[in-house]
Amino acid sequence: MSITTGDSRGKITSQTLLEKKQRHERITVITAYDYASARLVDEVGIDIVLVGDSLAQVMLGYDNTLPVTVDEMLHHTRAVHRGVKQAFLIADMPYGSYHVDEQSALANAARFLKEGGAEAVKIEGGEKRADLIRRIIDAEIPVCGHIGLTPQSVHVMGGYKVQGKTMNAVEQLMRDAVALDKAGVCCLVLEGIPREVATLITEEVETPTIGIGAGPECDGQVLVFHDLLGLTFHPAAKFVRRYADVGNSIRDAVRAYAEDVKSGAFPSDAESYHLSKETRAALETIAEHKRSLRK
Ligand code: KIV
Repeated sequence: MSITTGDSRGKITSQTLLEKKQRHERITVITAYDYASARLVDEVGIDIVLVGDSLAQVMLGYDNTLPVTVDEMLHHTRAVHRGVKQAFLIADMPYGSYHVDEQSALANAARFLKEGGAEAVKIEGGEKRADLIRRIIDAEIPVCGHIGLTPQSVHVMGGYKVQGKTMNAVEQLMRDAVALDKAGVCCLVLEGIPREVATLITEEVETPTIGIGAGPECDGQVLVFHDLLGLTFHPAAKFVRRYADVGNSIRDAVRAYAEDVKSGAFPSDAESYHLSKETRAALETIAEHKRSLRK
């Protein structure tokens, strides 16, 4: 067993995240769903890689996050785990995996650590989930909270709407944040809430807050990999900043490839394998012999 004594840009742990908040150093978070994207993100030095259940939409083509299963999430989490060396790895617990009873929630959460290689699980919901989250943390499973616009509640919210816009809603969000902080979450995602509310929560709680559509005062920011790269098929939400147009780069590359195949420009001679001189000569002799027999 080796004992680590700190991180000089080494492995990111929940302790590193807390220290970053205390030093007012912003925390970087991106979702990833497979080995290649995880590896690239990790090599750049992103602090947290989240295997979000948004994979239901961006990877599997569903309309919302509700259909994705624990087994599907685990399949992607294992792939991401193989690509991540330094980042803290969080996996989303999908809808239904922690809603039935405490025993199945605990068993499902444990699978993400044992089978997926995750270092924490993320659970949506505030005050009403605090007891369950405490039990999961008691079972040595770090938990990331997620409040505000919680996509798994899409049917209860009546769509993807900014939350916390009335005084009552703000007070509820504050209670949610404080309850999860007291329960011991290792970080807290604030999604789709007014900047002013996210600022208050970030000042109030000890745990690092990670914003998405929650303004710049959060302790860190998360974006969905496909949104950030322009790899989606719908108009982006207001909070998304596109850093690349990978969708169109892929279209251009595939179009050029198809044209080269059709015209015969691909593959070239340099992209082909060749026989040795001697084998080629021997083959030519046999071919010549066959041709002469046919005459
Ligand atoms: O599923 C997801 O990708 C998420 C992030 C957007 C926070 O929950």
